[in-house]
Amino acid sequence: AETVTRGEGGVVTVGGIAVTELAEEFGTPAYVLDEADFRARARAWRTAFGTDADVFYAGKAFLSRAVVRWLHEEGLNVDVCSGGELTTALSAGMPADRIAFHGNNKSVDEITRAVETGVGHIVLDSFQEIARVAHIAQSLGKRQKVLIRITVGVEAHTHEFIATAHEDQKFGIPLSGGHAAEAVRRALQLDGLELVGIHSHIGSQIFDMSGFEVAAHRVVSLLKDIRDEHGVELPEIDLGGGLGIAYTSDDDPREPHEIAKALTEIVTRECEAARLRVPRISVEPGRAIVGPTAFTLYEVGTIKPLDGLRTYVSVDGGMSDNIRTALYDAEYSVALVSRTSDAEPMLARVVGKHCESGDIVVRDAFLPADLAPGDLIAVPATGAYCRSMASNYNHMLRPPVVAVHDGEARVIVRRETEEDLLRLDVG
Ligand code: LLP
Repeated sequence: AETVTRGEGGVVTVGGIAVTELAEEFGTPAYVLDEADFRARARAWRTAFGTDADVFYAGKAFLSRAVVRWLHEEGLNVDVCSGGELTTALSAGMPADRIAFHGNNKSVDEITRAVETGVGHIVLDSFQEIARVAHIAQSLGKRQKVLIRITVGVEAHTHEFIATAHEDQKFGIPLSGGHAAEAVRRALQLDGLELVGIHSHIGSQIFDMSGFEVAAHRVVSLLKDIRDEHGVELPEIDLGGGLGIAYTSDDDPREPHEIAKALTEIVTRECEAARLRVPRISVEPGRAIVGPTAFTLYEVGTIKPLDGLRTYVSVDGGMSDNIRTALYDAEYSVALVSRTSDAEPMLARVVGKHCESGDIVVRDAFLPADLAPGDLIAVPATGAYCRSMASNYNHMLRPPVVAVHDGEARVIVRRETEEDLLRLDVG
């Protein structure tokens, strides 16, 4: 988060509040989210892309009603990928026409709700879905704006599970073999659909713009083929999300204005070469907006030095509040935040309290050798895909999200309670 400073006695302060106060008032573990930082990042994307483009915040990274209200106020739209996300966005007052609906297996109920409430567009992901959305829209007497998601065959240099534009995977319709062209042909024929554009999302945690360059090139060449075959120039392209953030000091992310400039230039150049009108661009950043704005605050529990190896530092959370290390080998850093220490650094592994050895939060990190139970440590950059992927494994209670702003802290997602667990258990 941006407003982090070290105050008296080395206690870290965020948004004007000491982490020791936050721990006392809200308990640990807790996700602490810096509202000013979130708004600043959202605004930076909005400003960078200007009025000729749309920024859809990817709700899967982290969604709550407060966040939706901030996005609304900052002029961003929201991308949702389930009925639950749609309900959350709508219930916080996001106008339906500023919501995009995604997913590779939307249910009839989800599609019906999306069409009925009038979402801005639906991103179609398969041939069945083209027919299904058309049918539902028509039976509701509507014409639904849609984009078709294609896979452009780009290998994004990221973890296999979060790379999405190579063709051997579940998302989108392959450009190769004429599949995307066929999808367009069908969509253009159906009365329930208004095909407005093509969508491509190449993966996540990407630093290298060359994947976007290839994707834009291929999307534009499809637009050109569509113009040549059907005489229509589709007015929109969506290049997805996926821009990387700094989890550790090795990562060197791009600023929104650099990304906007690069994407706009690529699309404009490709369109000029193909003599196409430049379409309206949209993007769907999730991680790049929310990721850096939160950290997880943990209390240190047991400490186990293993001779010649490392010291295992257990915290009061773990893979239930951050699955990314176990799932993707994600790298994080960690810092002692409740005091300073002059002690020597020791090689530590921060682990959770779950019943399995893969329950690692930070694989390798240096922490002061005098670390003691009761110290508070913080893992930065946990705003994206941590609370949203949190689980109740071992019947752990999912931590709250506490928003800090101008010296005030408020819970925007409360901590789960044991009653919450029992409420679902109706057997
Ligand atoms: N648009 C589409 C169609 C997506 O599938 C995604 C992410 C995004 C936008 C936003 O991507 P972002 O800008 O946040 O990278 N759980 C994984 C990430 C999965 C991303 C899924 N789709 C992780 O923790 O790294």
